[in-house]
Amino acid sequence: MSDGGSEHKRRASLTPRKAVPRLAAGRARALGLPTRGTTNANRLRRVDRWLLATQVPRLRDAARPLVVDLGYGSSAVTTLELADRLGPEVPGLEVVGLEIDPARVAAVAEDRDPPRVDFRVGGFELAGLRPVLVRAFNVLRQYDEESAARAWETMCAALGPGGLLVEGTCDEWGRRATWVALDADGPLTLTLAARVADLDRPSDLAERLPKALIHHNVPGQPVHELLRALDAAWAAAAGLSAFGPRQRWVAAVEALADDGWPLVGSTRRWRHGELTVRWSAVAPR
Ligand SMILES: C[S@@+](CC[C@H](N)C(=O)[O-])C[C@H]1O[C@@H](n2cnc3c(N)ncnc32)[C@H](O)[C@@H]1O
Repeated sequence: MSDGGSEHKRRASLTPRKAVPRLAAGRARALGLPTRGTTNANRLRRVDRWLLATQVPRLRDAARPLVVDLGYGSSAVTTLELADRLGPEVPGLEVVGLEIDPARVAAVAEDRDPPRVDFRVGGFELAGLRPVLVRAFNVLRQYDEESAARAWETMCAALGPGGLLVEGTCDEWGRRATWVALDADGPLTLTLAARVADLDRPSDLAERLPKALIHHNVPGQPVHELLRALDAAWAAAAGLSAFGPRQRWVAAVEALADDGWPLVGSTRRWRHGELTVRWSAVAPR
């Protein structure tokens, strides 16, 4: 998707192009603009698997384990899946699906118990909620880079104490995904995750990079160096293909760790076709 052109910039501004309803008297306007609502059952399984593996302690430690799924799209299916996945691990979990398109909120049934799931109109201001965890997937791709950066700031400022924003992108069927984890101080990590059997090379994931990185995947930029290094390690590990593509992925990721890339996590995560690296290693120059 090109970011060029004044028409696109006008449409992509955080200022809604059409009036969006106020959340409630006295509340701030929902920030953002309605975009395509494409979603699919199980599309967000990779980020949910990562959330389950890494974020349950954060939720359990919270006085109120509130999770927001921002921009759930034309159906609530991925919000309900998130609640179903985290619910058994987090006593008292509350999940709120926020959508800036009021018609999409009106279309979904409210309240499931347990865990409790609500659906409301809201935008980057998070509808005045103070969640411990925000999942915003396939939302910012449709904004321009500057607006996406402001959206990060707005969402991070709205997090509850010790909160985390997970903002990312994936393909239609959730086979290729990338996401950034951020807290109130800014970005912490970038994660790449894929069904590795479908990859010709790891840099196939480039087309799914978050808005903050996708235009920086050019020579001289750190994220380009990361993907190039991963491609080279993947090629060098070709001999392991006989043991399956996941073994090959793990070997490639281990090679990156050996080369000094600041990876987070362990082989246990990499076996899922994941790689998490500190943001400082991929932040645009
Ligand atoms: C492509 S859908 C993504 C659906 C789902 N999260 C997924 O990944 O399958 C993007 C949704 O985000 C919504 N959206 C865009 N900007 C938003 C904002 N600022 N606040 C809340 N929802 C927003 C759009 O209306 C659209 O329904």
